[in-house]
Amino acid sequence: MSSIIISDATAQDLQQIYEIEEESFENPYPLSLLRAYLFLADGLYLVAREDQHILGYTIGMRQFQTRGHVVSIATRGTQRRRGVGSSLLKILESRFEKIGCKYVYLEVNVKNRDAINFYLKHGYSIVRTRKNYYGRDKHAFVMLKPFSSSTSFE
Ligand SMILES: CC(C)(COP(=O)(O)OP(=O)(O)OC[C@H]1O[C@@H](n2cnc3c(N)ncnc32)[C@H](O)[C@@H]1OP(=O)(O)O)[C@@H](O)C(=O)NCCC(=O)NCCS
Repeated sequence: MSSIIISDATAQDLQQIYEIEEESFENPYPLSLLRAYLFLADGLYLVAREDQHILGYTIGMRQFQTRGHVVSIATRGTQRRRGVGSSLLKILESRFEKIGCKYVYLEVNVKNRDAINFYLKHGYSIVRTRKNYYGRDKHAFVMLKPFSSSTSFE
């Protein structure tokens, strides 16, 4: 893990981010959207890098001032279970907290056991189900993690 560096994503990283996106999701984001987030998610678009290789990435967006939304996170298939996703998520959470977010939330496919376990390990709880979120009969859990035990949710 020591040689893995987390930093802000740049335009030069986009091709490798897109490769990871394509191998990680059934319906990957198009390259154009991954590029647009460089402007939309300023300071909340991170990559994990080892030498010249991008091992994983995450995108966050702040909503309504106090909500941190994990738009996407993925680790290259060959690099999973090395702590890459955890490093990305921890730094994204700290960036959200720094800009005033009270909690972080995300949607995850109810069948994506790997990701659900990953989020549970990071202290997220399932708070509701969004039916047909990914298409007909493809439901999502909303998982949420407060930064403080006194946080209330709308
Ligand atoms: C979810 C994902 C980002 C995790 O990335 P990662 O770099 O492998 O995560 P880490 O190595 O930091 O894992 C941390 C912990 O999460 C849990 N976890 C991660 N992957 C898991 C799996 N496949 N099965 C069970 N638990 C898992 C484990 O507790 C793990 O700790 P351990 O390895 O010490 O047991 C990765 O599996 C991925 O890219 N999946 C495809 C894309 C995706 O589904 N993204 C989430 C969309 S909502």
